[in-house]
Amino acid sequence: MKIKGIVVFDTSYGNTEAIAKAISEALKESEIEVDTFYVKDAKKLSAKDYNCLILGSPTKFGTMSFAVKGFLGKVKSEEWMNKPFAAFDTENPENVERKEGSAAEKIAEKLRDKKMNQLLPVLKAVVLGWKGPLQEGEIERAKEYAKRLAIELKG
Ligand SMILES: Cc1cc2nc3c(=O)[nH]c(=O)nc-3n(C[C@H](O)[C@H](O)[C@H](O)COP(=O)(O)O)c2cc1C
Repeated sequence: MKIKGIVVFDTSYGNTEAIAKAISEALKESEIEVDTFYVKDAKKLSAKDYNCLILGSPTKFGTMSFAVKGFLGKVKSEEWMNKPFAAFDTENPENVERKEGSAAEKIAEKLRDKKMNQLLPVLKAVVLGWKGPLQEGEIERAKEYAKRLAIELKG
């Protein structure tokens, strides 16, 4: 069966978007077809159109953003179960506002609860300041992650 993925991300300052785009690009380079959506534009999510979900969020107060939480509510288990997924986040380990916890880990937990299949451990990309930038090398790391995802997807 032809693989078509959907990459959905939230972002406030562009860092998670940059990671999402790096993942999409590398998947395309690996001949995986993908559509990429900012979470607020991912209104019509049809499980019929996609057989893989890649979801990312900035970490906010130890968890995913509200918009990503809302999006997860639209991922119906009966439509998505047994389909593969991956989750990623950006986080700032030194943020004074920081709480323990990772958006990606929480996303992965919710998608596993919906009986989806996690392809790889989550990707956590590090940002340096409150608004970024991404730590050096994180874009390349995201691309490598996506290449490994492509290998898993092609089975
Ligand atoms: C209100 C707020 C809360 C945050 N809480 C956390 C946190 O709990 N843990 C963490 O690692 N980073 C935290 N951060 C840093 C964000 O993860 C960082 O701003 C984000 O990765 C940037 O991604 P974006 O450019 O895609 O918005 C917080 C940032 C903001 C603005």
